[in-house]
Amino acid sequence: MLYVEILGNLPEMARDEVRAMLELAGEEVVGQDYLLLKVTGDERVFPHLNRLGLAHEYGELIVEAKSIEQLLEKAEKAKWPIRGAFKVDTETMANCRHNVTDLPRKLGAAIHARGFRVNLSKPDTVVRVYCGERLYTGIRLRFFDPKEFEMRKAHHRPFFRPISLHPRVSRALVNLTKARREILDPMMGAGGILIEAGLLGLKVYGVDIKPEMVEGAERNLRHYGITDYEVKLGDATRLEELFPGRRFEAVATDPPYGTSATLAGRRRDELYRAVLRSIYNVLKPGGRLVIAFPADFRGEEEAGKLGFRPVGRYYQRVHKSLDRYFYVFEK
Ligand SMILES: C[S@@+](CC[C@H](N)C(=O)[O-])C[C@H]1O[C@@H](n2cnc3c(N)ncnc32)[C@H](O)[C@@H]1O
Repeated sequence: MLYVEILGNLPEMARDEVRAMLELAGEEVVGQDYLLLKVTGDERVFPHLNRLGLAHEYGELIVEAKSIEQLLEKAEKAKWPIRGAFKVDTETMANCRHNVTDLPRKLGAAIHARGFRVNLSKPDTVVRVYCGERLYTGIRLRFFDPKEFEMRKAHHRPFFRPISLHPRVSRALVNLTKARREILDPMMGAGGILIEAGLLGLKVYGVDIKPEMVEGAERNLRHYGITDYEVKLGDATRLEELFPGRRFEAVATDPPYGTSATLAGRRRDELYRAVLRSIYNVLKPGGRLVIAFPADFRGEEEAGKLGFRPVGRYYQRVHKSLDRYFYVFEK
């Protein structure tokens, strides 16, 4: 059994991102305790979990218990796949029901008694403890360093536009499409979504109505070493003409929210409806669209009229005058 610790700011979206990646590997989420997910699978799912954007870490779940006494008892008998020296690191989640003050020391002693060395400053293996409704302990296998995402934030790119999503969110949008080979962003802006997709090895296709965006997105893609891309100047409401005969496996996009500059002179809701229709026409049957809309646009209703099936919807308050939903639709 494995565990994934998701981030707390978009928890439902984070959980569904994990689900989407597990589905690609034929595995599933079998339990949840606040930000800790219990998931099935072995090393064959690692390449899929390594794609995650909204996760803190994943690892091997060794013991689950309903009390501290039970945790220690089970830990004394468990098989610990520890390499080198270890340390115990505890995560007290907001729903923690147990007094874990002494737990790291006691658990450390129990594992040490099994013949493993402790090294608090430079451990080779981190033993994680999670306190929620229940208690869990496991071996950390991968930590998602926030710095890796931070360094791809909009202001670090050669072509800078403040409209970009956080790279972790862009990454999650890509993953929620369950793309295996390719993805299209028909309103790519500075290319934030395509950068994350390209780094996962997907072939990326991008469109924008403004020439400076097409040029800028290309510069950004190259900056991050992405070479398998096709970016075009064009209109997201006419994708059938831009890609004649082409059907895409996945689409993810973040349309403009309504300032006249970014809407390129169109009425907002009309533009959204036309974009949804055009995306529907170039998506393969069974393919997924992940798209953001301001909360006052009825995304599900409009997409439903075209034949899209709703799969997920996640609310995010961006600032005082903007809240939005991220939608996942399937054709
Ligand atoms: C919010 S930005 C996308 C930001 C992008 N997701 C990122 O992270 O960098 C929306 C983009 O849609 C483009 N756009 C507006 N109307 C369009 C249309 N009809 N067809 C294609 N692109 C359009 C704008 O030029 C703008 O660059």
